[in-house]
Amino acid sequence: GGSKRLVVVSNRLPVALSNEGGRWVIKPGGGGLVTALAPVLKNRGGLWIGWSGAKGEVDIVDPLAEFSREAGYSLHPVYLTEEEVAGYYHGFSNEVIWPLFHDFQSRCNFNPTYWRSYLDANLKFAEVVVRFSRDSDYIWVHDYHLMHLAFMLRNMGVPRSCGFFLHIPFPPPDIFLKLPWRAKIVRSLLEYDLVGFQTGRDRSNFISCLRALLPEASISGRGNEVRVTLLGRTSRLGAFPISIDFNAFANMASSGEVAQKTKDFRDALRQRKILLGVDRLDYTKGIPQRIEAIRQLLIKFPDLRERFSFVQLAVPSREEIPEYNALKIEIERLVGEVNGQFAQPGWVPIQYLYRSLPRADLVAYYRAADIALVTPLRDGMNLVAKEYCASNVSETGVLILSEFAGAAGQLQKNGAKLVNPHDVEGVAKVIHKAFHTDIADHRRNMHRLRDSIRKADIFWWVDSFLQNAFSRHLNDFPPL
Ligand code: UDP
Ligand code: G6P
Repeated sequence: GGSKRLVVVSNRLPVALSNEGGRWVIKPGGGGLVTALAPVLKNRGGLWIGWSGAKGEVDIVDPLAEFSREAGYSLHPVYLTEEEVAGYYHGFSNEVIWPLFHDFQSRCNFNPTYWRSYLDANLKFAEVVVRFSRDSDYIWVHDYHLMHLAFMLRNMGVPRSCGFFLHIPFPPPDIFLKLPWRAKIVRSLLEYDLVGFQTGRDRSNFISCLRALLPEASISGRGNEVRVTLLGRTSRLGAFPISIDFNAFANMASSGEVAQKTKDFRDALRQRKILLGVDRLDYTKGIPQRIEAIRQLLIKFPDLRERFSFVQLAVPSREEIPEYNALKIEIERLVGEVNGQFAQPGWVPIQYLYRSLPRADLVAYYRAADIALVTPLRDGMNLVAKEYCASNVSETGVLILSEFAGAAGQLQKNGAKLVNPHDVEGVAKVIHKAFHTDIADHRRNMHRLRDSIRKADIFWWVDSFLQNAFSRHLNDFPPL
């Protein structure tokens, strides 16, 4: 029929592939984008177009169809060659845009061949979108890998309503202007009808870059009503802080299975206080600085020795990029050094896990933790902060949060303790203070945090984006 469907396009499908005895096996995938969007598709139905994570033409039609049936929406793979994975994914996306947009200019590799590969891959994704979608569908493109997709669709003369959401930060002009392809990227983003950012800061950074690079564009309106007109085309810019399926985390945390796992876990750590860090192993997450803060805590406050365990879960990520491998080695060295310095018979201060965990285990760690240390150096939003609160059903936990996470704006006013992750002594002091604060204060704060996330959950986020996208002709788009 002619009904409007939601077509989500992202680099990664919500799956992780593994080859078991020559057969491809599909499991749910990880990372913030996938955690956030999977419940949306499950709830509304639609199509999800993206890369499976494999190199070359792998035969995954059957396992994907099975995953689609269970998930309640359809998955359509984009196949990338080994060269495309190297140039577009590892290269342009993760050695140029990812570091630059997180303020790590010195980690950028501005290799011109990466740029060409990025354009080719965006065209390839656009071709798959054309193949599987209709004129009446809404195409919603996600994240920095696909900033050129709408431009490719327009070039092909394909009329589709397109929205874009950037999951990572947008940098200020003094950083963005270093990008050799800066004007082309800004120009291409304006091919989307609506461009969504995580925070007001990201949106205003984008507007500053726009003013610098395309002075002929006319900008009007304020807040989520900002409009940009260029050569007769108008795009809207908005800020939409992404969230999580609060109830899914809270319900899982209340389940008997997780209660048992939580108890086992606390018993194994001999009922000591638990500090928790959960991150993909990525240099934006501030893991070495966090370990340094733990060292400072042990030096400055010897009363805390043997009274807590710091559990750091580092999820393997982008392992083929040299920067990631170097960081892994640095973290292993630091963990060993701090443990060597302070361990006592029966107590090791840092428990380091390098793997990904099934959801129930992750939620048990969240539920068990007395303090979550969420201290990225820069982060688009950071869903771990929100997942921790949703899972903390006892409402006694403390969220220590970096002021450089997108989530800081929403969560500070509701009870998160903000820190500067570079200030390792400052972080140690805030942890120490949490140990000595009355539990009634913790309860009050965690209760407010959970209320605020429950209200602004992932379904609220989808509605606010789509309502903005269709506010001109809302009647056109009720069912989705
Ligand atoms: N996560 C995961 N596997 C794990 C542990 C965590 O996929 O073993 C998820 C976690 O639940 C969260 C996401 O990874 O949804 C991390 O999202 P965040 O926004 O904090 O950072 P990102 O990794 O997207 O930069
Ligand atoms: C961040 C990005 C996502 C990405 C995820 C995992 O959340 O914003 O687009 O999917 O990290 O990274 P990966 O490179 O494994 O997809």
